[in-house]
Amino acid sequence: DEDERTRRIDAALEELGEDVVILGHNYQRREIVDHSDFIGDSYQLSKEAANSDAKYVIFGGVTFMAESADIIIDDSQSVILPSMEASCPMAGMAEALQVDAAWAEITAETDADIIPITYMNSYADLKAFCAEQGGLVCTSSNAHKAFEYAFEKGDKVLFLPDKHLGENTAHRLGMEDETVEWDPWDPESKDAAKAVENDVILWDGYCQVHERFRVDHIEQIRAEHEDAKVIVHPECRREVVEAADKAGSTATITETIENADPGDTWAIGTEIHLTNHLQRWHPEVNVLPLCGEACMDCNAMRQIDPNYLTWVLEELVEGRERNVIEVAPEEKELAKLALDRMLEI
Ligand code: 13P
Ligand code: SF4
Repeated sequence: DEDERTRRIDAALEELGEDVVILGHNYQRREIVDHSDFIGDSYQLSKEAANSDAKYVIFGGVTFMAESADIIIDDSQSVILPSMEASCPMAGMAEALQVDAAWAEITAETDADIIPITYMNSYADLKAFCAEQGGLVCTSSNAHKAFEYAFEKGDKVLFLPDKHLGENTAHRLGMEDETVEWDPWDPESKDAAKAVENDVILWDGYCQVHERFRVDHIEQIRAEHEDAKVIVHPECRREVVEAADKAGSTATITETIENADPGDTWAIGTEIHLTNHLQRWHPEVNVLPLCGEACMDCNAMRQIDPNYLTWVLEELVEGRERNVIEVAPEEKELAKLALDRMLEI
């Protein structure tokens, strides 16, 4: 039962002391965030991992986040992911080998300098590839700055893997008419010569959670709650971001609710667990999910079951390190370069 589990987690943490820090992404279940030393978005959590001296960083999140933490922490520290099944489907939509092949096709068609930008939601080998080609990593809060960096350095951008974040960013910079999608799974639609006529080539990846929000969800909320404002994550479709009052990363969504006045109503277009936490943490604000619960549950984040958290902690007490996430040394250095370029912008 939950009390028994909480007692076991607390006992293991007491035993492990300062050797362990628990990081919880905003989309984690209540039981995980309740045990987390830090809660935040993927970018904030990587920074917390870098600032921590703990020997073990237990990551309540998905594989690409645990990898990013491993890239920036010291060699004497280890990252542990309570479940190896917690993999973001969007990150899996751009495999480095596949991107390599597309890169060869696209660059063969032009003398222009193409700069690849990969969203944080990607694996370390793709981050390394981007660094090697002069590119960088971005998050949902600094994608526009990554575009500006790329256009200072080169002529065109290949944006991976999230086409919606790429399109929303191009729109924000007034480049909406210069984008084209590249679908790596459809040989018929791939036309490299045509793709390079555009300045922004968008890899055809997406988040299965955020893509499900629709404009009619916003219309329905506004019909039911006259005063409601709507904030959505920029992984949502272009027309949804356009129809919302505000768009931003999970950190921006959190800050918006923290700064809301008592009695304000905000409908939130992101993963349901963050919406539920914000409802719990800010009862003075009327926080609503933008559509029904089942529509917005991330099954990758859900893999971090509190029983697995108990297991990895109790195993550490016994001196056994389970589910360590380790990026290969040859990828680590380049991936770090791609992350460092992001930190500089
Ligand atoms: P953040 O970068 O806003 O934490 O988002 C991560 C994510 O997985 C969004 O779906
Ligand atoms: Fe990946 Fe979407 Fe889940 Fe975020 S919400 S981890 S992008 S599938």
